[in-house]
Amino acid sequence: MDGEKPITILGFAGSLRRASYNRALLRAAVEAAPKPMQIEIFDLAPIPLYNADVEAEGAPDAVKAFKAAIAGADGVLMVTPEYNHGVPGVMKNAVDWASRPPKGAVLDRKPVGIIGASPGVTGSARGQSQLRQAFEFTNSYAMPQPELLVFRAHEKFDAEGRLVDDATRERLADYLAAFEAWVRRLS
Ligand SMILES: Cc1cc2nc3c(=O)[nH]c(=O)nc-3n(C[C@H](O)[C@H](O)[C@H](O)COP(=O)(O)O)c2cc1C
Repeated sequence: MDGEKPITILGFAGSLRRASYNRALLRAAVEAAPKPMQIEIFDLAPIPLYNADVEAEGAPDAVKAFKAAIAGADGVLMVTPEYNHGVPGVMKNAVDWASRPPKGAVLDRKPVGIIGASPGVTGSARGQSQLRQAFEFTNSYAMPQPELLVFRAHEKFDAEGRLVDDATRERLADYLAAFEAWVRRLS
């Protein structure tokens, strides 16, 4: 879609691990994004655990920055691992902060893409499904299809965290093209 208005996407991964496959997948998405789409990475490490008392006193700076970044983006790309058949706390906690206050939350009517990676054979499928449920409450527009499940992730990235599997790279490019169309349709 060359020549179209640029769109900005905020991307974040639900793992704090240096060698995280999901962080690596997010970096690969930045590189693979179609030209008019720019993905900016937000690091969730400084986001504290959600606490309504803290929120009532004024959100911490990291949370304010996170919410402002979501508000300023045309869409959000979440790259989630799967922990114990669900969404890891790091990711869920970030979504919980961003969902507040419920009226006028930055996630309201925000286009959302969900992808993920796991060394297992289901490629974070259950983590992605559980994360998707949150967007019923937040009234966010989570793209239903296509899905991107990067299974056997240890075989898809090299020691430096570069995506080296051609088939996955192709599926990632297809996903991002569909996500661009999804974001434009909803803008
Ligand atoms: C607490 C915990 C629970 C896990 N549960 C699952 C799981 O249910 N399904 C799965 O495919 N992998 C599971 N794993 C393995 C993760 O997919 C693997 O550690 C992966 O590398 C985490 O993502 P990251 O590389 O982005 O940090 C689990 C790992 C941890 C630490």
